Amino acid sequence: MKTANVKAFGTKATDAPLKEMTIDRRDVTAKDIEIEILYCGVCHSDLHTARNDWGFTVYPSVPGHEIVGRVTKVGSEVTRLKVGDIAGVGCLVDSCQTCESCKKDLEQYCLTGFTGTYGSADKHLGGFTFGGYSEKIVVDEHFVLKVPSNLDLAAVAPLLCAGITTWSPLRHWNVTKGSKVAVVGLGGLGHMAIKLAKGLGAEVTLFSRSPGKEKDALVLGADAVIISTDSNQMNSVSGKFDLIIDTVPYVHDVNPYVATLNISGTLVLVGYLGGLEPFLNTVPMILGRKSIAGSLIGGIAETQEMLDFCGKHNIVSEIEIIKMQDINEAYERMLKSDVKYRFVIDMASLKE
Ligand SMILES: NC(=O)c1ccc[n+]([C@@H]2O[C@H](COP(=O)([O-])OP(=O)(O)OC[C@H]3O[C@@H](n4cnc5c(N)ncnc54)[C@H](OP(=O)(O)O)[C@@H]3O)[C@@H](O)[C@H]2O)c1
Ligand SMILES: [Zn+2]
Ligand SMILES: [Zn+2]
Repeated sequence: MKTANVKAFGTKATDAPLKEMTIDRRDVTAKDIEIEILYCGVCHSDLHTARNDWGFTVYPSVPGHEIVGRVTKVGSEVTRLKVGDIAGVGCLVDSCQTCESCKKDLEQYCLTGFTGTYGSADKHLGGFTFGGYSEKIVVDEHFVLKVPSNLDLAAVAPLLCAGITTWSPLRHWNVTKGSKVAVVGLGGLGHMAIKLAKGLGAEVTLFSRSPGKEKDALVLGADAVIISTDSNQMNSVSGKFDLIIDTVPYVHDVNPYVATLNISGTLVLVGYLGGLEPFLNTVPMILGRKSIAGSLIGGIAETQEMLDFCGKHNIVSEIEIIKMQDINEAYERMLKSDVKYRFVIDMASLKE
């Protein structure tokens, strides 16, 4: 059973702008929650997907995986949320829930492949999943998050991807009071990384290509800003960091950042997906037991942990609210790093 004619915004081709379309959503099964979407954050992954940057987009594509909304219907076996509750949905809407990864609350590394909020095979309706640029969504309750009641709902939305994607490596690499953390790129992920690392008590430095973001970075909680194109500034932090979270979305040279890692430090790539250029020099890695790692979003329990932490420490994203109809312009601005620091779509605009 399904509901047809749900309003959404998506694209049918790599070079086509996003525009209004209708999609199907399933009726709730026993374990499902139906959510009326109030806000949806705009992640750079939405843009990569709409434009097929990674080569695996299926069209039509309806992006959006930073979803906050109100529960409108629950299945008969749902226990965690009830009608009227505020709920969040991030990048995951399903996984096998039985493999070694899922049993360890690492659904994002499900050995049979997780179901992404958009662009994954839809086990219920066939076809592919559609994301949060839409009026409503139906999700298995295991993948629905509880949203702390004290936070601004629109500003919570980006926590569901930008927040958890930076929280997970901070936790995995045991960032704590006094850890020296650096963040590369002050965008959606980068600004959350600063806030969350600061919340955990770390000393935080931002690497940015963009002079002009220094003041904002300090207000967001950074202790220092290094302009990555200035070699004197880069040399001044040589061998300093325990952990670097690199959020840059496009191919870039990571060697200058490896030089700023302390002995046994780790550079975690969360942004760019693909082959690195130019070559990676292993000498400083071997001589300093330095690691280069990657990290994908975070599991559901870890996402709830992050949301609860944000509730306790009053941490939300810095946002600019847009209408759904402004999404194509928002993508262009995102490409120019002209966003402070996350667009969030007010989904009420879809009714206009
Ligand atoms: N691993 C995961 O699970 C995961 C989850 C979500 C998103 N992502 C990926 O993470 C990346 C960042 O997403 P986002 O939403 O934070 O993007 P964003 O808001 O556009 O921010 C990216 C930042 O990177 C810097 N930057 C942009 N282009 C650059 C270039 N060509 N060279 C060097 N620096 C550049 C800019 O910061 P400055 O101006 O300060 O230099 C920019 O603000 C995207 O590729 C996205 O797909 C990964
Ligand atoms: Zn994302
Ligand atoms: Zn699994």
